[in-house]
Amino acid sequence: MTESCTKKNHSSDNTTPCSAHETCQDLHQILITSEQIQKTIERLASSIQDTYADYDCVMIPVLLKGAQWFANDLSEALNHDKFQFLPISVSSYQGGMQSTGQVRIDKVEKIDISGRPVLIVDDIYDTGLTLKHVKQWFESMEPAEVKTCVMFEKDCDHAHEVALDFVGLPVPDEFIVGYGLDYQEQYRELCCVGILKPDLIEPEDRIEYAQPVS
Ligand code: PRP
Repeated sequence: MTESCTKKNHSSDNTTPCSAHETCQDLHQILITSEQIQKTIERLASSIQDTYADYDCVMIPVLLKGAQWFANDLSEALNHDKFQFLPISVSSYQGGMQSTGQVRIDKVEKIDISGRPVLIVDDIYDTGLTLKHVKQWFESMEPAEVKTCVMFEKDCDHAHEVALDFVGLPVPDEFIVGYGLDYQEQYRELCCVGILKPDLIEPEDRIEYAQPVS
């Protein structure tokens, strides 16, 4: 049995169960609480505001689907319309536990980023394949610069090294879910991050599944 996943209210010190709290029962262990996530968002927002203080417009591509939850909170914390969030459909895992090795960028509307700073926002830096591919793609469009911001940095060898400009929290080299991260499209809504109970992993995925930390 794990502790339950709760979220602190903005207006008071009270905590309430997060909207997906019933799926907390599927977690073997909570690694990062909602409160840690909220504090991290505040720190990142402050650092981003300082970095872009002299710019009137910052383009922020958000790599869907996973980064949507992070980007929503970041947008609220930045609270300024000079930060223009652009949702981009990108996928390399396609529902599984391992990267397919190919990055698909779907349905990007024509955007003019020439001469503007770009800050790519993603939920997790794992192999680095996604971020590297997307960064190169934006660099080809002659922006003023391209920086990167991830909520979680996995503690592993990154096959595709990418310089990270803003990093939220380190996470162990485990398969984790919550706060945008899914297993078969489930658990994204969890406001905490944790490790799934091993018996919830499909038999065909188990070979890839690292044993949870105790
Ligand atoms: C996940 C995650 C990152 C990427 C990180 O996306 O959201 O974008 O993988 O892994 P990498 O560093 O090994 O490339 P996924 O392809 O699962 O799509 P999703 O965001 O829709 O879940």
